[in-house]
Amino acid sequence: MNAMFCRAFQCCFAVGARFLPWRTPEVFSGEGSLLRAADILRENGLRRPFVIASRRQCADEHFRALQEKLDEQDILLFIFSSVEPNPSVETVEKIAAQYKIDSCDCFLVIGGGSPMDAAKAAAARLARPGKPLSQLAGLLKVRRRIPPLIAVPTTAGTGSETTIAAVVTGSDHHKYAISDLCLIPRYAILDPALTVGLPPHITAETGMDALTHAVEAYLSRFYNTKQTRLLAEHAVVAIFTHLERAYRDGTSLPDRAAMLQASFDAGAAFTRASVGNVHAIAHTLGGLYGVSHGLANAVLLPLVLEDYGKAACPCLARLAALVGLKGESEESLAKAFIAEIRAMNTRMGIPDRFNCIRKEDIPLMATWAAQEANPVYPVPVIYDEARFARVIERSHHSQ
Ligand SMILES: [Fe+2]
Repeated sequence: MNAMFCRAFQCCFAVGARFLPWRTPEVFSGEGSLLRAADILRENGLRRPFVIASRRQCADEHFRALQEKLDEQDILLFIFSSVEPNPSVETVEKIAAQYKIDSCDCFLVIGGGSPMDAAKAAAARLARPGKPLSQLAGLLKVRRRIPPLIAVPTTAGTGSETTIAAVVTGSDHHKYAISDLCLIPRYAILDPALTVGLPPHITAETGMDALTHAVEAYLSRFYNTKQTRLLAEHAVVAIFTHLERAYRDGTSLPDRAAMLQASFDAGAAFTRASVGNVHAIAHTLGGLYGVSHGLANAVLLPLVLEDYGKAACPCLARLAALVGLKGESEESLAKAFIAEIRAMNTRMGIPDRFNCIRKEDIPLMATWAAQEANPVYPVPVIYDEARFARVIERSHHSQ
């Protein structure tokens, strides 16, 4: 697909996107806000929530407090705890089938990106029972009302609680996104108390996912609005300020709260402005090797930003100035920004390369990445398969 065609597509899409009914979830935030889920259910007359939460989450004191409140309201919970990282189509189908068997009337998801994406994809299947997930992949293919969805993130990174996307992995290890405005959750609950128990490496990796969302959205050509730029800037500044503090002291509620808000803001920015080539490559690593999404993005972000060269300089220079970095030219500021991302990764124990990539997989990875990115992602530099392959090779340790 040539670059001119991609740019023409992006210009047309940007015009069309202005007329789409964009919305954001109703947000409840603050320590203890998980309990607001009970009010939401009561106020909406919802009595049979299909709950997606891990076993560990269900044993947690915050969840038990919510359960007690729901017991008082005679609300019965149907709990599903078996969502794997990088959720498979099979798991999504199981959720949709179980939801129907239990005659549920809404989703309550408490977890990271994987359970949230699995719930959104299952909701898409319920709205479109005649279409397999593979046919719902891409943009605006669902176009139906989904069951009410309350999203409660327990990591600060994915932003899935406010985005149009649900990412799933097919039986051939191909990770793909179903993106539609109807998949934006109706409610998002940002309770920092739910993230205090996160291990440092998950705090780091998910936080770098949020940073990647904000930076890729900010670099987007055509799709940005004044508001998405502001959201991305806020998110970048907040992540530079709070991520490493949350990494070092997981119990710091102000840092955890700031990261949840930053992740939400970055999600709201990229759902309108799009992600870019970092995500296109990261998804291939998640699908083929099970690399966590945040780790994949963290490693790839500086490599891809560097590869964009001058095309990304003005935006990166603005972000660098916002986070207080110094430089005498746009180019030196942009370089300082990329160097600081690398330094953050190092300080948080994130490697600078992968050691899992099999050389023989690179052509397939490049094909998948190009299929995901082109023509939709309005990146500073359109990559063809050969350039994707070169960047993937560079991200491997032996290079
Ligand atoms: Fe992401």
